[in-house]
Amino acid sequence: MSGFSDAWLAQREPLDAASRDAGLVSGLRSATPHRPIVVTDLASGSGANLRYLAPRLGGEQHWRLIDHDSGLLAAMPARLDAWAASADATVRRDREQLIVKGPSFDCHIERVSMDLSDGIASLAIEPHSLVTASALLDLVSAAWLEELAKRCQQASATGFFALTYDGRVDFEPPDADDALVVDLINRHQRTNKGFGPALGPAAAEHSGEVFRDLGFEVTTARSDWRIGDQHCDLQRTLLADWASAAQEIAADESTTIDRWAERRARRTEAGTRLVVGHVDLLARPMAE
Ligand SMILES: C[S@@+](CC[C@H](N)C(=O)[O-])C[C@H]1O[C@@H](n2cnc3c(N)ncnc32)[C@H](O)[C@@H]1O
Repeated sequence: MSGFSDAWLAQREPLDAASRDAGLVSGLRSATPHRPIVVTDLASGSGANLRYLAPRLGGEQHWRLIDHDSGLLAAMPARLDAWAASADATVRRDREQLIVKGPSFDCHIERVSMDLSDGIASLAIEPHSLVTASALLDLVSAAWLEELAKRCQQASATGFFALTYDGRVDFEPPDADDALVVDLINRHQRTNKGFGPALGPAAAEHSGEVFRDLGFEVTTARSDWRIGDQHCDLQRTLLADWASAAQEIAADESTTIDRWAERRARRTEAGTRLVVGHVDLLARPMAE
C-alpha cells in the first residue's frame, strides 16, 4: 500500500483478525508459558497486533510497541478505547504508559517512536521474550530479516510474525489481465520500502528458512485474506493502490492497467471474491 494511514490500518484490522491462524496462536501460547511476558512489537502501527494477541496470550504482559510513525502511535489510545468494550477491557493512562486490563490479561504498554530501517542493533531484546510483528516482513530486506533472526537467537526469544504477504492474488471471476497486473504488483513489492530491497513475495518462505537455519523450530500457517462482498470498500482501496503500484513499475502499460482497474471496479460492484495470500510464522528457539 502507498503509506500506512490510521484509516487504512483500521480498515484492514477486522479482516486481518479473521484471517490469522488461530492454531498457530495456541502454539505461541504454549511456547511462551511464563508470565509476565515481555513483548516487542515491531512496526506496530496503531496496535492491531496487540489487540489480537493480548487476550489470546493471557496473563501479565509488558509490551513495547515500536513504529517510526508517531501519528500512528498517537492514534493508539483511541484505537484501544474503541476496541476495549468488545474485549471487556479497560484502558488507563499512567503518564506515558497505557495499561489495558481484561478479564484474563493485564498489559502494560510503552510506545516507542523509532526508525527500524537503521537496523535493530540498538534495540534491547530481553532474554526469553517474544518478538512479534504483523504485516511487516514483506517490507524488509533479506539482510534486515537476518539481523532480526540473529538478535532473536542471541536472546533465545520466540518470534511470531503474522500476515506476511506471499505473492498470491486470485480474483473470481478472473480477468485476462489479472496475471499481468499481479506480476507488476509483485515487482513493486520488491522495491525498497525503506529497509533496502524488499523481500516482498519471497518474505514468507525466506523467513522460515532464516529462522530454521539458526536452529529455531518453525511452524507456518496460511492467513489468506478472503475478501467477498462484505468488504467492497476494502476491495476498492486495494484496486486503486494496486493500479498505481503497477503503473509505477510499467508506465508503458498504463492504458492496459487503467482498463483493467475499470473492469475490476465494475466487477467489484457485481460481486468479486478475492484471495490475497498471507502466511503466519512461529519460530521457537532451541531449548537450552
Ligand atoms: C502494514 S503496516 C502494519 C502495522 C501494524 N503492525 C498492523 O498490523 O496494523 C506497516 C507498519 O510499518 C511501519 N513502518 C514502516 N517503515 C518503518 C520503519 N522504517 N521503522 C519503523 N516502522 C516502520 C509503518 O509505519 C506501519 O505502521
